[in-house]
Amino acid sequence: MRVTIPKLQERARSGEKLAMLTCYDASFAATSDAAGVDILLIGDSLGMVIQGHDSTLPVTMDETEYHVRCVVRGSQNAFVLADMPFGSFQESPAQAFRNAARLMAAGAQMVKLEGGATMVETTRFLVARGIPVCAHIGLTPQSVNTLGGYRVQGKSDDAASRLVDDAKALEAAGAALVLMEAMPASAAKRVTEALTVPTIGIGAGVDVGGQVLVVYDMLDIFPGRKARFVKNFMAGQPSVKAAIEAYVKEVKAKTFPGPEHCF
Ligand code: KIV
Repeated sequence: MRVTIPKLQERARSGEKLAMLTCYDASFAATSDAAGVDILLIGDSLGMVIQGHDSTLPVTMDETEYHVRCVVRGSQNAFVLADMPFGSFQESPAQAFRNAARLMAAGAQMVKLEGGATMVETTRFLVARGIPVCAHIGLTPQSVNTLGGYRVQGKSDDAASRLVDDAKALEAAGAALVLMEAMPASAAKRVTEALTVPTIGIGAGVDVGGQVLVVYDMLDIFPGRKARFVKNFMAGQPSVKAAIEAYVKEVKAKTFPGPEHCF
């Protein structure tokens, strides 16, 4: 039976770290499921690792919906989280609802929206209408053009405080998970301690509720430059399943990320 939001919350409350991994197809979904991954994220990173674009911006709703269906067909246990692609939710809460509803109908159990304070109203609108939301703060790759590159966020005390404020506002609006990307471990710890909902980090240190990586990065398949927070879990492993099991084990044991993966 599929993991539910209360089950995820129960695991997090008991101190268990949540292991999330991106997933785009049925074979990886089945393998990750069997390896014990808690949450499969159909990330818009698919634009880069599957489609070969140099950003996530070109990914469409039709493509995301297709990949959600593939992942749902391939898995039985893991919680299914789908990214809202660029341009599918920023215009208005009503636009976000229309597109999020398509991903939920395809089998997603929650949608992820990039953005801090600007997404509070949309989060409230979706949650009130039956669509669970994961917030995504810190480095938000869909804003690469306004951020001026893929840069670590929340470095100053003020910037870290803004992340805490944004996360609290998103939680108050109903976000059930908060994903934090590329920020000092100290900032992510502050955010995590300020919330009651689980946090998931990528390049956000070990003092968070769980971890996520892009599966093609941690298996060392993607040929592009790797971020500091990526670890090659395929090294020394006999199979993809063993590599994913090693990732799950290290996340749960809090041995990943190590200091060398943190900002
Ligand atoms: O699309 C994606 O892969 C993401 C990452 C943060 C894991 O959102």
